[in-house]
Amino acid sequence: MQNYAETIRHLLKRHATGLAVACVAGAGILALRRWLAGGVCRSKVRLDGKTVLITGANTGIGKETALDMAKRGARVILACRDMTRACIAAEEIRQQSGNGNVVVKKLDLASLQSVRDLAKDVEENEGRLDILINNAGIMMCPKWKTDDGFEMQFGVNHLGHFLLTNCLLNLLKKSTPSRIVIVSSLAHEKGSIDFDDIHLDVDYQRETSYRQSKLANVLFCKELASRLQGTGVTVYSLHPGVIRTELGRHLLPTLALWQRILVTPIMMLIKSPSAGAQTSIYCAVDESQANASGLYYSDCAPKKPAPQALDDAAAKKLWDLSASMVGLA
Ligand SMILES: NC(=O)c1ccc[n+]([C@@H]2O[C@H](COP(=O)([O-])OP(=O)(O)OC[C@H]3O[C@@H](n4cnc5c(N)ncnc54)[C@H](OP(=O)(O)O)[C@@H]3O)[C@@H](O)[C@H]2O)c1
Ligand SMILES: *[C@@H]1O[C@H](CO)[C@@H](O)[C@H](O)[C@H]1NC(C)=O
Repeated sequence: MQNYAETIRHLLKRHATGLAVACVAGAGILALRRWLAGGVCRSKVRLDGKTVLITGANTGIGKETALDMAKRGARVILACRDMTRACIAAEEIRQQSGNGNVVVKKLDLASLQSVRDLAKDVEENEGRLDILINNAGIMMCPKWKTDDGFEMQFGVNHLGHFLLTNCLLNLLKKSTPSRIVIVSSLAHEKGSIDFDDIHLDVDYQRETSYRQSKLANVLFCKELASRLQGTGVTVYSLHPGVIRTELGRHLLPTLALWQRILVTPIMMLIKSPSAGAQTSIYCAVDESQANASGLYYSDCAPKKPAPQALDDAAAKKLWDLSASMVGLA
């Protein structure tokens, strides 16, 4: 026994540096793996007999979220603007989930008419709506306008979803307990709402516009939750993680070659769309969050958003402005 302890002590002494390096490397790999994996939604909840609508579900995070909802047995509506890509995605989801109840409906969030048409179709033809996932998004595009003359990122990411959600509220209220999930982003942290120049006409910057639209998502969640208190409809906003999707499609072509080369190894490290769907899935189904509403999530857990996303007065002001812009006031 004495000898054994002696040997260990001797070994530790001789290989101290090597052991320290191994420990640090081990801890590093564990941390990296944890960071790469992010949160995972472990809920086994089934959604048989329930209906889920997901915007922008033909690719990326939305498609993976739709696949998960289909595997749980829900009727899944993919609300997409590109019907060809949406039909291909729907067929893939039907095959991978073994759930035939996956349908496609046309939705272009850059057109209020398209939003109203989709909402009318759903209201008239669907018996219920249990989960609405506002997932579609556009990032850092040039200074573009929607059909109604809104700045594109604010128009699609916020205003289109604002109108869609409001138009679907009756059906959601008839289907309680029901949930509204709003996919925002970490980008909201550097955002501010430019109430004096909401379209950023004076000085359009694509990052500023994206951040404003994602901050609007978190503020919308907060205000909507307070308006829906006691109705049985709960609301969640979230950051999905940094995920390998097509979101960079407007940004990447504008980068210089050296910037693109720098970005390549990062692209290989960042998470897959199925990892990116976990927090959306968590907010949509996890039993532990059934009574939570108005919170912001990251890695399958509530997280405190930036201070400007907790501003009640700004949330109300944004609601009133949005309502008048989309003609709801
Ligand atoms: N990827 C990330 O690292 C990351 C990080 C933070 C937050 N997010 C958020 O995650 C959400 C999903 O993005 P993603 O990463 O999965 O990107 P993505 O692969 O580009 O998917 C975006 C989806 O939104 C749809 N969309 C865009 N404009 C639309 C419009 N006018 N009407 C209807 N649908 C429209 C796209 O449809 P088309 O294919 O027809 O264009 C596509 O289905 C977004 O809200 C994004 O802001 C992503
Ligand atoms: C939610 O509230 C209901 C009613 O008060 C309660 O029965 C249930 O246990 C709560 N669920 C959670 C996860 O807190």
